[in-house]
Amino acid sequence: MKVPFVDLGMQYRAVRKEALQGIDRVCKRSNFILGDEVRRFEQEFSAYCRMRYAVGLNSGSDALLLSLLDLNIGKNDEVIVPAFTFIATALAVSHSGARPVFADIDDKTYNIDPAAIKKVISKRTRAIIPVHLFGQTADMNQILKIADKYGLKVIEDCAQAHGAVYKPRKKRAGSMGEAGCFSFYPTKNLGAFGDGGMIVINSKKAYRRLRILRDTGRSSHYMHTVKGYNSRLDTLQAVALRLKLRHLDKWNKMRQANARIYTSLFKAHPDIIYPYEAAYSSHVYHIYALQVKNRSRVFEHLKKKGIGAMVHYPVPLHLQKAYKDLGYMRGDFPIAERIARRIISLPMHPFLKRSQIEYVAGEVLRVSG
Ligand SMILES: Cc1ncc(COP(=O)(O)O)c(C=O)c1O
Repeated sequence: MKVPFVDLGMQYRAVRKEALQGIDRVCKRSNFILGDEVRRFEQEFSAYCRMRYAVGLNSGSDALLLSLLDLNIGKNDEVIVPAFTFIATALAVSHSGARPVFADIDDKTYNIDPAAIKKVISKRTRAIIPVHLFGQTADMNQILKIADKYGLKVIEDCAQAHGAVYKPRKKRAGSMGEAGCFSFYPTKNLGAFGDGGMIVINSKKAYRRLRILRDTGRSSHYMHTVKGYNSRLDTLQAVALRLKLRHLDKWNKMRQANARIYTSLFKAHPDIIYPYEAAYSSHVYHIYALQVKNRSRVFEHLKKKGIGAMVHYPVPLHLQKAYKDLGYMRGDFPIAERIARRIISLPMHPFLKRSQIEYVAGEVLRVSG
């Protein structure tokens, strides 16, 4: 049986008719940049996150970068990020001119550990970027408390957690810090037909600045007040994203149901650590990741059996060649390093069939232990 890691074709089928009509509408108007579709999607997505404003962007990477720049974070500043995440979180800090400072993660949730944040705060620290990794929010009350105490800004990296809820505050990912940054990369829980991103924010001033910053710094067509970027969300992507947003909660529930089936099959196995659901967060299962002892054997076996497994992420950021200049050493973040050695992601998307889940789990169990 073939079980691909994701199945974007099924998502496409759910929105195809209206998407093609929407694309036709935009093309006939030949109004490809920003405009009505982007504005409407911004309104709908900010309402979904229960935030006042949203700024549509070309990517999650630029959502993080522009959030930092808007806070005047740059040269001589430090920003704390988890050692275990997709590299884009740290790259945004580097590209702002600031220095990413890594912190170790919690060994159950894989999110940044608040106690580890405290250890790396310095006089230069300006902000923390918690990542809601794999679909589960970080421990936000603890993080916000630390930020408050030390006068730091919190920028949430929500690229993997569209719609996840932090239960103690009854708030969605992206609505607790200074800004919430989303990616709409096609495989995300809310994915475009290409690249896309968004910042959600409550400050009207920041909203106005960010709109200028994403569009070459222009205040009117050829009047530029700051050195901005071309980071706009494409109008055609907004068409697709508006349609998919209507399905997001349902698709997240389907992911959760699939995760429950997986977990019921792994629960009794002593050598497998299945995903931990913290009491404080819902988990929208962007990724369903296990810890196994013999990862390469499991990975190779699944590949042979037609199962699309992946590793998120094999090398923590402090050991990436790109970050050699920061001078970190192996052993600096032992939890991130251990998880990176053991983690493996199984196929996960809303449309997995029970028979596929049982087949995948059966093949994992066959070679585990
Ligand atoms: C945690 C995290 N942060 C940031 C990004 C960057 O988003 P994008 O690929 O849209 O630039 C991604 C996704 O790719 C991600 O997974």
